[in-house]
Order: sequence, then structure tokens, then C-alpha cells
Amino acid sequence: MASSVFWSFCTAIPLVLGYTDPRAPLIPEDYDVLQYVDPLIGSANGGNVFAGASLPYGMAKAVADTDSVNNQGGFAYDGSNITGFSSLHDSGTGGQPSLGNFPLFPYVNCTNDDVNGCVYPKIQRQTSYNSGSVIAKPGYFALTMASGIRVDMTVSHHTSLFRFRFPAGPESKPLLLLDLSDLSDTRQDNAAISVDADTGQMAGHARFLPSFGSGSYTPYFCVDFRSASGVRDNGIFVNSRASTDVKQLMISRGINGYPLPGGAFIRFNSPTDNTVLARVGLSFISSERACSNAESEIPNFDFDMTHSAAVDSWKKKLAPIRVSRSGVNSSFLSAFYSGIYRTMINPQDYTGENPLWESTEPYFDSFYCLWDSFRSQLPFLTIFDPASLTRMIRSLIDTQRHSGWLPDCRMSLCKGYTQGGSNADVVLADAYLKGISDEIDWQAGYSAVQKDAEVEPHDWSNEGRGGLESWKSLNYIPVEDFDYKGFGTMTRSISRTLEYSYNDFTIAQMARGLGKNSDAEKYEATSGYWKNLFRDDQTSFIDGTDTGFKGFFQPKYLNGTWGYQDPITCSNIDTSGSVCSLQNNAAETFEDSIWEYQFFVPHDMASLIARLGGPSQFIRRLDYLHDTGITYIGNEPAFLTVFQYHYAGRPGKSTSRAHFYIPKYFNVDPAGLPGNDDSGAMGSFIAMTMMGLFPNPGQNVYLILAPFFESIRITSPLTGRNATIRAVNFDPAYNDIYIQSATLDGKPYTKNWVGHDFFTEGRELVLVLGKNESRWGTRQEDLPPSLSTRGTTNISLVSSG
Ligand SMILES: *[C@@H]1O[C@H](CO)[C@@H](O)[C@H](O)[C@H]1NC(C)=O
Ligand SMILES: *[C@@H]1O[C@H](CO)[C@@H](O)[C@H](O)[C@H]1NC(C)=O
Ligand SMILES: *[C@@H]1O[C@H](CO)[C@@H](O)[C@H](O)[C@H]1NC(C)=O
Ligand SMILES: *[C@@H]1O[C@H](CO)[C@@H](O)[C@H](O)[C@H]1NC(C)=O
Ligand SMILES: *[C@@H]1O[C@H](CO)[C@@H](O)[C@H](O)[C@H]1NC(C)=O
Ligand SMILES: *[C@@H]1O[C@H](CO)[C@@H](O)[C@H](O)[C@H]1NC(C)=O
Ligand SMILES: *[C@@H]1O[C@H](CO)[C@@H](O)[C@H](O)[C@H]1NC(C)=O
Repeated sequence: MASSVFWSFCTAIPLVLGYTDPRAPLIPEDYDVLQYVDPLIGSANGGNVFAGASLPYGMAKAVADTDSVNNQGGFAYDGSNITGFSSLHDSGTGGQPSLGNFPLFPYVNCTNDDVNGCVYPKIQRQTSYNSGSVIAKPGYFALTMASGIRVDMTVSHHTSLFRFRFPAGPESKPLLLLDLSDLSDTRQDNAAISVDADTGQMAGHARFLPSFGSGSYTPYFCVDFRSASGVRDNGIFVNSRASTDVKQLMISRGINGYPLPGGAFIRFNSPTDNTVLARVGLSFISSERACSNAESEIPNFDFDMTHSAAVDSWKKKLAPIRVSRSGVNSSFLSAFYSGIYRTMINPQDYTGENPLWESTEPYFDSFYCLWDSFRSQLPFLTIFDPASLTRMIRSLIDTQRHSGWLPDCRMSLCKGYTQGGSNADVVLADAYLKGISDEIDWQAGYSAVQKDAEVEPHDWSNEGRGGLESWKSLNYIPVEDFDYKGFGTMTRSISRTLEYSYNDFTIAQMARGLGKNSDAEKYEATSGYWKNLFRDDQTSFIDGTDTGFKGFFQPKYLNGTWGYQDPITCSNIDTSGSVCSLQNNAAETFEDSIWEYQFFVPHDMASLIARLGGPSQFIRRLDYLHDTGITYIGNEPAFLTVFQYHYAGRPGKSTSRAHFYIPKYFNVDPAGLPGNDDSGAMGSFIAMTMMGLFPNPGQNVYLILAPFFESIRITSPLTGRNATIRAVNFDPAYNDIYIQSATLDGKPYTKNWVGHDFFTEGRELVLVLGKNESRWGTRQEDLPPSLSTRGTTNISLVSSG
């Protein structure tokens, strides 16, 4: 495929350091990026994005909650009705709706001006809002309810500030209620609220269940009100009845699966300026702490100041990256910057708010889930926000220190369910290899990941790995395993084998770096266990037609006999109704097919390509996966398959696939995401694809694509240096998307990948684009590293099929 003559001719010419192609576009100028951030993208159609007001990684997340079946992020922009305005949320989740605690709900007045003339239960009070009244911006959310009340909101880190503007006139006799509930109605026993007769301050707490995990959590609140005309009266409500005579309520769960409605209310004298402010302090420690958080963060109820501080913190977070706007449709700018914005909504920084253990380390929550975010979200933050990522890694290590295990998922102070492997291993290795910080205790980090590989937890549905006995003796996870040491759902034997293999490779990389060479060799060896489930003679028929490919992963029993799973089961085109999640009778692959998982050997693509019949057969398989719709880009296992052409010497096909998926499957509508955003995973996929460097996570590798913009400037927050990517012959119609040649810091560059030093050293990559695929990046020495070749994928090692 390659002509070495051409390249040796090039390298024979002495180079001037820092030479740049004179046609190369300029570094993009600075501009206000927040204009391109649209928090409503992904707020409908199951994207489940949190569309409201939050700081970067903020704990307070204020938004209108709706009664949509897809309301995981609180506000679903799909015509569903408003049930309240609450302050804790997650973003993009796939499980049950998460959080949504302590909604406030306003009324202009109550029938007959009687407190019992207002409607209290959530299932009865829902109301529509004026279409076209919704405004969502970083740090700000607003809409107008059908009753005419305009509600807008902003936040500080632990505090929401809601502004209710009532219609003017004598009929305005406002009442606000606070409901001891959450989005999924999971409230347990002993919820409490008290209302101060003079000030109307409401404080209390309640215990709830996490949306995709085990245990429970107890948030506390402290709400203060401000209105020019003062408090009229207040009290509590239970179910549909209210009284001003009672100021405290302790309420049990109730029966029939739906927690008994209960909470407090406050009425105001007809406000002279028609405005009531509600400041909601939050804490996981105590309601006193919730009050003091609110008092210290928003002492004067200053809405504009709080809002502009939120805007400033978003500006700072988005400062490290600018792309050229020249020729580009603004919807691409919006998709790109909104994707970046969503990478910093979750995880949430709960430092100082962790009731579970005493520590001086940071505490982050809402890693929801690492199975999603290890692929590109956390690698993205490694580049753009290493200081925050450092704190997240320290938090993960501290969580292991105190709870025994690294999470694969974590939310609401609880252990989340493990979907496959122990993917915190990849997250730690990725950060370690990229040298993000010297503030991390890497010996403790290494012990934590090594424990995943060595010790089986009693309950491996929440942490660690199951089947380690079989793994160590048989070197694969068997279907119908015999495992009496730990307990979890005994399914997913193929995808768990593949993920454990990859997890072990990332542990080996940390071991190498830490000078633990015998450990490194051990885990490099176990990272090859994926081979033990590869069945050379397995075929794949779809609707009775032979796909023509032979050799697929298959389940294997304890006794070494092959089991069987149709390679198409659980794929996007499977119509058999197969169960592919965490159910007891689920398939041997998690949320995806053998067809998809056959490509999941991110650390040894050279061996995989050989197994699959060589580069040209490999490319045919990858094309088949995408062209027939077996893969679905709306779920994370699909991400890397877009770019794996790089490993078979066809980087141009990766760029072409990227344009196949963006914008077709990722646009700027509320329904513009193809699946759950999963805490920003989809956002990071968009951002890294469009900037033209996609990570193979847990490795020091970014695959080079033609970017969607003419030039890109990335300032390393670690070193302050500017890395730039410039596309010569950039075509905004995206017809000329193939890299013809490249220079790195002025020297010809033929590798189809770069390492993390590209960012930290502030290097300059100039890509010359053209209409057709070229020989650039196609030779074996140009390919990204693979374990078995101890370096590049050695195409001559493998037959051409
Ligand atoms: C919204 O609530 C109103 C009553 O307030 C009801 O008439 C309407 O059908 C609801 N809309 C939806 C989409 O549920
Ligand atoms: C209550 O407010 C509504 C507007 O939301 C108004 O139409 C109605 O007349 C008011 N009722 C009273 C008794 O003032
Ligand atoms: C920009 O993209 C949007 C959405 O894809 C499309 O509707 C619009 O026509 C495009 N505008 C231009 C000038 O190409
Ligand atoms: C191995 O175990 C499977 C599942 O129990 C069984 O179907 C198969 O016959 C066994 N193979 C042998 C050789 O005993
Ligand atoms: C990086 O680029 C920005 C924007 O052009 C510029 O202000 C800054 O000085 C550059 N930093 C360095 C170290 O060159
Ligand atoms: C690109 O490829 C097409 C079809 O193979 C060919 O006709 C055309 O001349 C090529 N264009 C360039 C610029 O090489
Ligand atoms: C590729 O493999 C062949 C055959 O083992 C070997 O001769 C050659 O040196 C290898 N090349 C690289 C770049 O590893």
C-alpha cells in the first residue's frame, strides 16, 4: 500500500523548524463561545440531557421538571407538563429518572383564597407552559407557565436561586409549595420539613433511592424567600389538605408504591413588584449546612450577580478551545461547543458534602457511568480540564480507599451497577499515561486497579469483577459460570471477557510506568485472554443470508465446550426481542452484539486484525458493521468502531465515517442526540470527532482525522501552550475531507496518530486535504501502537485475507 520512496525523498530534505505551509489558515481568533452553547440539545427523544442551570460540575442543578416518560434530566422538551422546579439532577442517564429532589411549585392564587383551594399532589398539579417561552443558557433557565407565572433560575455551587414573577393585579395572591419528592417517587421513611412562622424559611430532608444502584441517600435543603411585600402566612400540607396551624411535618413513605404527598407552603402578600425569590440551599450533611451554603454563596439574593458569576465560570471552562468559524454553518459550532459544555455538567463536585467518610480528599459523584465516560468524556477532560480531572481521579482513589472498590458507576452517594468490566482501571491509566498531575497518589491508584484484577468482591454487581476464579484458571469468563465466591448476574460472559482483557492491559501500562515490570508482563499476558473466546469457524447469517465472514467470538462453557449466541443478537437490527441489559436471562454481550464487540480489542488491534483475516477483510467487516446498521452510534460501544480503520491503514475511511454520523445522527435539535447523552459521553464524542483527534482511551494515542473546522487552537491548561490544527484546502461542504499530507511542527508527519504531548507541548499539525483518499498514514510504521507488535500494527505480520 505504501511507497517508501516517496517518504524518504521528503525526509531527505533538510527542514526548517517551525516551517508552516503558507496556505495554512490562521489560528482562530477569540470570540464569545457561550452564544453557541444550547443546553436544550438532547433534552427530548431520550437524550435525557439536563437542560437547566448549573455551574461546571455543580451540585445545584435547577430546572423545571416534567412528567415525560423520558424525564431523566428533569426538563424534557417534548410537550410534557411541568410538575415543579427542583434543584438536584443528573444528565443524560439511561436508568430511572435520577434525583429531581424537592420541587417548588407556584400558584397565582388558590380558589376562594383558601389554602385548601390549591392543588398539592404532584400527580394532580401538573400544568403546561407557553410554547416558545423556554430560554436555556449556561447558568440560566426560564419559562412561562400556563398560569402566566414567569419562572427563571440560576445557581451557585450548592444553591439554586429561583425567581417567580406573578401576573400583576389584585388576583395575585401567590402561594409556593415545596414537595418532599423526587422525579422517580422513591422517597422512603422519615421525611421531615419545618417552616418558620415569621420568615417562612423551610428546612428539612428525606431519604431516596438512587436511580441505577444500591442503597439510599439523604439530601437536605434550606429554602429562604424574599418578596417586597412580605410573608402572609405559611404551614404544611399532607396529600391534598393544608393548614396554616401546623408548621412541622414528619412523614412516612405511605403505601401503594407512591409516597404520600407532603411538604410545606408559603403565601405572600400581593407582591408590589410581583416577584418572589426562592433561594434553595442544598447539602448532603445537614439542613444547617444547606442554610449556611446558601447564605455564604448567595447572601443578598442577587440574581444578576449569581447569574453573571455562573456565566464567567462557563467562559473560563470553555476558554482552552477555539475553532475557526470561517465558512462553517453555525449549527456545527453549536453542536461542537454544546458537546463540550455537556462534558462538564457531570460528574458533580460534592467535596465537603460527603457524609460517608471523613477525608481531606476531593469527592466527586455522578460518575454515571464510567462504562460510558471512560471512552471519550474523561479523556477529553484530561486535555481540557486536567485540574478537575485530577480531583476526580483523587476522588475515585479515595472512594476505593474508604468503600473498598473503585466504581464502574456511581450516583447519589451510592454504588451504581457494573455493566461490564472495571472501567475505572482505564480512567486511571489514561490519566496516568498522560501525566496530568503530580498530586495523585499513584501507588494507591495502582493498588486500587490491581485489586480489581485480583480480588473478587462478594457483590460484583456493584463493583469489581465476577468470575475471577474461572478467569484465573480457565482464562476466560465461562457462560453459566460456577462462582460461589461472589455474586452478580452471571451473564455477559463475552463482553466481560473482552472488557476484563482490556482493563488488564491498562493496568499493565500503569505497572510499566511505575517500574513494576513483572506485574506488567503478567497483565499484558492476561490482556490476551480475549483470544480464548474467538471461534475460528463461527459464521454469521442474517435473515438466512450468509454474511460471508468466518470467525466470531462465542460463549464457552466451564468444560471448554462452545456455547452459541447468534452474532447478530442484541444488535441494532436484531428483531428477536433479546434481553441484553442486566436481567438474569440476558445475553452474553451487554447492550450490544457479538458483531459489535468483535472490534473491542483496543490494545491489540494488530492481533485482532490478523484474527479477522487481515486488513482488507477487517475493513470489509467494519464497513459491513456500519453499512448494514448493525452498530448504532447512539450507544457507546460504537464510538471506537468509527475510527478503527486507522489500524488497518485506512485513516481516510475513519474521517468519512465521522461525516456519515455527524450531523445525520447528531444535530442541534432537542431531539438531536441518537441516545442517552450518558453524563456527557455523547457530547465528548461530538467534540473530539469534530476537532479531528479521537482518543483510544487508556493509551497515549489520539487518531488523526480531518477536522470539521479550518483551524483549531487548544491551549493546554497545564502548560499554557497552544496546540493548533490547521487544514489546508479546507472545504466547508466536506467533500474534500481526505488528508493528503501532514506536517507536525513543520516537519513531514506520516503517522496517523499523535500522543498527548501534542497538547502539552503546544505542537502544530498542518493537514493538507483533498478529494480522494491518499497514501498518507497508511504504511505499517504510520499506524497506532498495538501490544503484540510492541509498537505499530505490523501489517506484514498478517495475511491480507
Ligand atoms: C398537561 O396538563 C393539562 C392540564 O393541566 C392537560 O389538559 C394536558 O393534557 C396535559 N398535557 C400532557 C401532554 O400531558
Ligand atoms: C386567580 O388567578 C387567575 C390567573 O391565574 C385568575 O384568572 C383568577 O381570577 C384568580 N382568582 C381570584 C379569586 O382572584
Ligand atoms: C445549516 O445547517 C442547518 C441544519 O443542518 C440547515 O438547516 C441550514 O440550511 C444550514 N445553513 C446553511 C447556510 O447551509
Ligand atoms: C459441557 O457443558 C455443556 C453445558 O452444560 C454441555 O452442554 C456439554 O455437553 C458439555 N460438554 C462435554 C464435552 O461434556
Ligand atoms: C495562545 O493563543 C492565544 C490566542 O491566540 C494567545 O492569546 C496566547 O498568547 C497564546 N499563548 C502562547 C503561549 O502562545
Ligand atoms: C479522485 O478519484 C476519482 C475517482 O477515482 C478520479 O476520477 C479523480 O481524478 C480523483 N481526483 C483527484 C484530484 O485525484
Ligand atoms: C513486521 O514484521 C516482519 C515479519 O515479522 C518483520 O520482518 C518487520 O521487521 C516488522 N516491521 C515492523 C515495523 O515492526
